[in-house]
Amino acid sequence: MKLIIASNRLPVYAVKEGDSLIFKQSPGGLVQGLSASIGTILEITESKDYFWIGWPGETIEEVNQERVYEYLLKTLNAIPVFLSKEEMEKFYLGFCNSTLWPIFHSFPSFAKFKRDEFERYIEVNKKFAETALKILDDDDLLWIHDYHLMLLPSFIKKEKPNVLVGFFLHIPFPPYEIFKLMPKNMRETILEGVLNADLIGFHTYQYQQNFIKTVRSIFSIEHDIKNIYIDGRRIRTDVFPISIDFDKYNKAEELPEIKKRVAELKNLSHNSKVVLSIDRLDYSKGIVNRLFAVERFLEKYPEFHKNVLFIVVVVPSRIGVEKYNETKEYIDSLIGKINGRFSTIDWSPIQYLFKNLPFEELVPLYILGDALLVTSLADGMNLVSKEYIAANPKGALILSELTGAAEDLRRAFIINPNDIEGIADTLKEALSLSKDELFERNKIMVEYLKKNDIKKWTTSFLEELSQCTPTKKPIYLD
Ligand code: F6P
Repeated sequence: MKLIIASNRLPVYAVKEGDSLIFKQSPGGLVQGLSASIGTILEITESKDYFWIGWPGETIEEVNQERVYEYLLKTLNAIPVFLSKEEMEKFYLGFCNSTLWPIFHSFPSFAKFKRDEFERYIEVNKKFAETALKILDDDDLLWIHDYHLMLLPSFIKKEKPNVLVGFFLHIPFPPYEIFKLMPKNMRETILEGVLNADLIGFHTYQYQQNFIKTVRSIFSIEHDIKNIYIDGRRIRTDVFPISIDFDKYNKAEELPEIKKRVAELKNLSHNSKVVLSIDRLDYSKGIVNRLFAVERFLEKYPEFHKNVLFIVVVVPSRIGVEKYNETKEYIDSLIGKINGRFSTIDWSPIQYLFKNLPFEELVPLYILGDALLVTSLADGMNLVSKEYIAANPKGALILSELTGAAEDLRRAFIINPNDIEGIADTLKEALSLSKDELFERNKIMVEYLKKNDIKKWTTSFLEELSQCTPTKKPIYLD
């Protein structure tokens, strides 16, 4: 038996440097988490081998494709699915990130519904299926990830109904009333696609129930709290909150290069209180709301002037999608406005970085940060909050109640991202606690993360998938 993982991104992505292509580690919890647990995956599934199918992150010219294919296969067991520039525009920037993303994150007014982009989405899913079908045997296990590949279960089951197919959604599943805003052919094709999996996983109970309610409302079929029954077939759904490689973050403080960097940063921040935030550039992360709260905090609590530093790290993402570009412009202008208003010659409240940070730069910031401020308006999980608590058990986690993580990290300072005054007050409260008080408060979350790490997530999903009986025929709904 083999295990095949399919996700839009591979664990590495190609970058052009002059005439050559180099490969860098892909950002994001999905690929990092899965990469860290490949050993465990092979053990629990008793697989002899595994392959990872995905996009290598650049439009690779045809002349280079064979070389890239061989390199990725040899070094990472990865099988690239090459996508043209047009496919990336209509599939990735288009249907995935201008239709599915805003709908699934409950930003319906940001969504576009373009038929040609949807067609490209179908074609790219078929392309992934063709790649997978070349290597899939009947007794293999296929684990499909995320909203980019929601039609893949159908295309696989049509050809190989005996393959056990698991699907995990890494973003929220929206309430039915929002999902229904998608045109009929789109919403029905998507649900039919996913329902061809044998097990469908979500981060939270809420997302799982939104899905079941949506399926019931659109197709009027039988179900119970976890299972959906169609044509005598049982499709299981369950909740698997994704997590992190706990030891990697928790033990990082002991590494000499991290220690050195933390000391340097402490010096640079002049021992001010540091409030950190790190997000991918995305309107769903509520960065604008956060900046309003920072402004309100500085207005309301002038005693913190010169004694606090807000480090705002925004990781470039999905450049080319209009709403992302607009969000970036708004963030830039707000930071300029706040710094202009409150800075003195020797102090600026906000230090702004628009870049991707490697682990060696990121972890020292977690350790330096007296608080981490997460203000997402919708967020499937939010792994940054879990990484922060693991890396810095003496830090204050201020966490939006609209993240999946808020279900797991209940001793965080829970805020509502629309309550600007409330965030400002919570910041004051959190920054007033001593490190010992915070350490006590965080203990239960640290223990939780230690027990529920990325390996536990992988194991739970795959064990449940192994218990499923594969469908013998694909389902078609009408
Ligand atoms: O949160 C969903 C997700 O697809 C993650 O799995 C991934 O890390 C992140 O978004 C990054 O997205 P992109 O692949 O578009 O850079």
